[in-house]
Amino acid sequence: MINSTPLYDGLKRYIDENNINFHMPGHKGGHGILNIKEKPDFKDNILLIDQTEVSGLDNLHLPEGIIKEAEELAARAFRSDYTYFLVNGTTCGVYSMILGVTNHGDKIIVPRNSHRSVVGALILGGLWPVYYEPEVDFEKGIAVSVSLEKIEEAIEKNPDAKAVLVTNPTFYGTCSDIEAIAELVHKNDMVFLVDEAHGAHLPFSKKLPLNAMDAGADAAVSSTHKTLSSFTQSSMLHVRKGRVDVEKIEFMLRLTQSTSPSYILMASLDLARFQMEEHGEELIDNLLYMVDDFREKVSQIPDIYCFGKEIIGQHNVVDFDPTKIVINFRNLGVTGTRIDEILRKEYKIQVELSDLYNILAMGTVADVQENYDVLYNALVDISKKHKGQKEIRRIPDIKWETPYQALNPREALYEPMEMIDFEKSDGKVSAEIIAPYPPGIPAIVPGEIISKSTIENINRMREAGIKINGPRDQKLEKIAVIK
Ligand SMILES: Cc1ncc(COP(=O)(O)O)c(C=O)c1O
Repeated sequence: MINSTPLYDGLKRYIDENNINFHMPGHKGGHGILNIKEKPDFKDNILLIDQTEVSGLDNLHLPEGIIKEAEELAARAFRSDYTYFLVNGTTCGVYSMILGVTNHGDKIIVPRNSHRSVVGALILGGLWPVYYEPEVDFEKGIAVSVSLEKIEEAIEKNPDAKAVLVTNPTFYGTCSDIEAIAELVHKNDMVFLVDEAHGAHLPFSKKLPLNAMDAGADAAVSSTHKTLSSFTQSSMLHVRKGRVDVEKIEFMLRLTQSTSPSYILMASLDLARFQMEEHGEELIDNLLYMVDDFREKVSQIPDIYCFGKEIIGQHNVVDFDPTKIVINFRNLGVTGTRIDEILRKEYKIQVELSDLYNILAMGTVADVQENYDVLYNALVDISKKHKGQKEIRRIPDIKWETPYQALNPREALYEPMEMIDFEKSDGKVSAEIIAPYPPGIPAIVPGEIISKSTIENINRMREAGIKINGPRDQKLEKIAVIK
C-alpha cells in the first residue's frame, strides 16, 4: 500500500510490546544516553543536531575543530594515541584497520571464526588469510579463546604475514591473553589488531578484563553502540602510533565512511565517552553488582547454568567479562533458540542471541535491577514448566583438517561458479562458506578445496542435527563451486 509505512509501523509495534531488553544497542531504548545528568537537553535536541558540515561544525574527514576535539578526548579516555569516530559501524573500522596495515595480496593471521567484516576486508584487500582455530568449549557449545601457542604456530609457519588479528572479548565474554599475544606479535615484527567489538566498556573499570589498547594493540575497534550508550552504527577505531602508518589508516577511513556522516551519531559518541569518563566506574560497579547477583541466583535454578569466572583457566581463557550473561539450558534439555522464543512470547523479554544450548543476555550500564528480577523469575518458571525435556543434541567433537586455499577470498568472489552435488564436490574449489553452528567455525570458505573428510565431517554434523549456516541451498544437496 502506497500510504503505509511498514518499517516504521513494525518498529512501533515492537516498542509497544514493551519488552524488557537484554540486547543491543547498549543504551537500551535511550535509557543509557538520555539519563546523563549533566546533559539533560540532549533528548530535546536529537533532531536539531542532525546537521551538516557548515561553518563551525567541522568535518569528519578532515577534522580541525569540534570533531577533532571530541576525538582527542575519546583518545584520552580509551588510552589510544588517535581515536576515530565511525558512523558506518564497527565494520568500517575493521575494514580500515586491516586495509591500513596491509598491501594488496599480503598475508594476515585471523581467527577462523572471524566476524564477516574481517572477511569483507580480506575481499577488499585481496588478502591471503592464515586461519587459526579458536578453542571450543563443547560442554557450553561455544567457541572461546585462542592460545598463545596457536598464534605462535601461525607466525612460525608464516613469517611473511603482516598482521595478527584477535577477537577479544568474544561475544560470550571469554578473553585470550592479548598482552602476551601483543608481545609475541611485535617480537616478530608484525602488527597486532584487536576486534574489540564486544569490549568498548573495558577501559572504564579495573574490575573488567584488560582492554586492547592497554594490552599493547596497534589498533582496535570498539563497538560503543553495543556495550556503551552511543547510537547504533556509531563506533570507534583506536590507534597506537609507532608500528602503523596512521595516514594510510585515515585514508582507508575516508574510503569506507560516508561523506555525509551523521552528527547525531557523532554526538552520541561524544556523550557516551563523557558519560563513561564522568560516571563510568560507578555505573560499572552497579552493573557488576546486578550481574554477579543474578548469575549466582540463576545457577541455583535446577538444570539452568550461567557460567562466570570459573571458566578462567579452561580452554586458554585468561579472563571473563561478566556483563555477558550466557545462560545454558543443556541440562534442562530445551534449546536456547526455543527459550529465546518462550521468553519473548510468554514473558516479554528479548535477549541478544540464542543457539543450541544457550541464550545470551547483554548487560550494559543502562540496566536497572527490576529487569534482572523479571528475567530471573521467568527462568525459575521455565525450569519448572519444561523439566525433563529431551530436545537437545550433542555437538560432535570433530577434528577438522585445514583445507588447502587455491584462491584467496577476493579471487574466489570474481570467478564464475556453478552448483553441483555436495556429495560429489570432493576436489572442487568452494564458492561459498559452510559453517556448522554451533560452534560457528567455518568448515569451508570460498577459495578452499573441498576434501572428502570435510564432506564426511559436515555430514556428521548434519546427522547430529547441527544447523549448517551459509550455503545457498539450505538443504546442502548442492554446493556452489568455482567452474
Ligand atoms: C566481533 C565483531 N566484529 C565486528 C562487528 C561489526 O560491528 P558493526 O555491526 O557495528 O558493524 C561485529 C558485529 O556484531 C562483531 O560481533
